[in-house]
Amino acid sequence: MEFGFSLVHVSDLHFGGVADLYQIEALETVIPDIEPRVIVISGDISQRARHGELQRARAFVREAGRTAPVFIIPGNHDVQWWWRPFIPFGSAAKYRKYRQYFGHELAPTLEFPEAIITAANTSHGVAWGSLTPRLRDVAVKGHLPKGEIDRVRKIFREADESQTRILVMHHNLLRGELSKRMGLARWQQAQRRVVESGADIVLCGHDHQDGVDTLDGVVVACAGTLSGRSRGARAPLFYRIGFDNRGVHVEEYQWNATERMFRRADVHAFARRRVIHEEAVRSSIG
Ligand SMILES: [Fe+2]
Repeated sequence: MEFGFSLVHVSDLHFGGVADLYQIEALETVIPDIEPRVIVISGDISQRARHGELQRARAFVREAGRTAPVFIIPGNHDVQWWWRPFIPFGSAAKYRKYRQYFGHELAPTLEFPEAIITAANTSHGVAWGSLTPRLRDVAVKGHLPKGEIDRVRKIFREADESQTRILVMHHNLLRGELSKRMGLARWQQAQRRVVESGADIVLCGHDHQDGVDTLDGVVVACAGTLSGRSRGARAPLFYRIGFDNRGVHVEEYQWNATERMFRRADVHAFARRRVIHEEAVRSSIG
C-alpha cells in the first residue's frame, strides 16, 4: 500500500549491557529498504547514560540518518538523575551528556509538508512532578509539565491544516497491558492535556511492551524495546507508520530470532481524527 507519509518508530534500544546487537544491526540494514521519511527514537537510547553507550547510540543515529532525518528525545535512562536531585535550576547537569552527543534540544520539532513532529519532554529524573508515593517509581516515572504541553499545543495550532500532528514522548501514555503501569505521574491530567493538544498521534515507549490503541480519537503507538528486556518474552518489534488522507496504518516489524531479521507482521489501521482534505494537501505541497 502506498502512503502519503511514513516513518519508522523505535524505542528503548538501551545501548549498553542489555542491547541486542543482532537486532540493532538488522534494523540498520532494514531501514533503507523501508524508505521512511523520518526515523523517530522515543528515548532510552542508553542503559546508564555512559559515554560508551551514548557514543554507540550516536553511531546508530548517524547510520540511520543516511536514510532520513532522525528525531530523537531522551528517556529516563538517558538522564543522569543522580545529578542534583531536587535542586531547582540545577537540571541542566542531568542532560549534559545526552546533549553532548545528540544536541541541545530535548524536545525538537521537525516539519515536513505532510506532517509536523514535535516532542514533550517527560524525562525529568528525580523531580517533584514525577514523584509518587511508591519508592520504586523514583527516577522511573515521568511527568508532563504544563509548559511542555502548552508549547506543543501552540505548535500544532499554528501548523497547516494538511499537516499530520505527531507528538513524541518517552513515557507510555496508556497503561501497560502486562506491567499494568502508567508511565506518567498524574496520568489522567497528562492524558487530558495530550488529547487537548491537537495531536493526531502519539509515539511513546518506556513500558517495554508494544501496544497500539486510541485515546479519545488520538492514536497512541507505544513501541516495545529492541533490547534483551522485552516484557513477557514477547518478540521485539518496531513500527512503520503510514499516513494517508483518511487513515493511520501502524505496521509491526517483528524480530525473528532464528532468521535474525525483522519481518512484517500485523497492521493496525485507524481512521484519522481529522480527515485531511485533498485540496489542503495540494495547496500546502504546491
Ligand atoms: Fe524508559
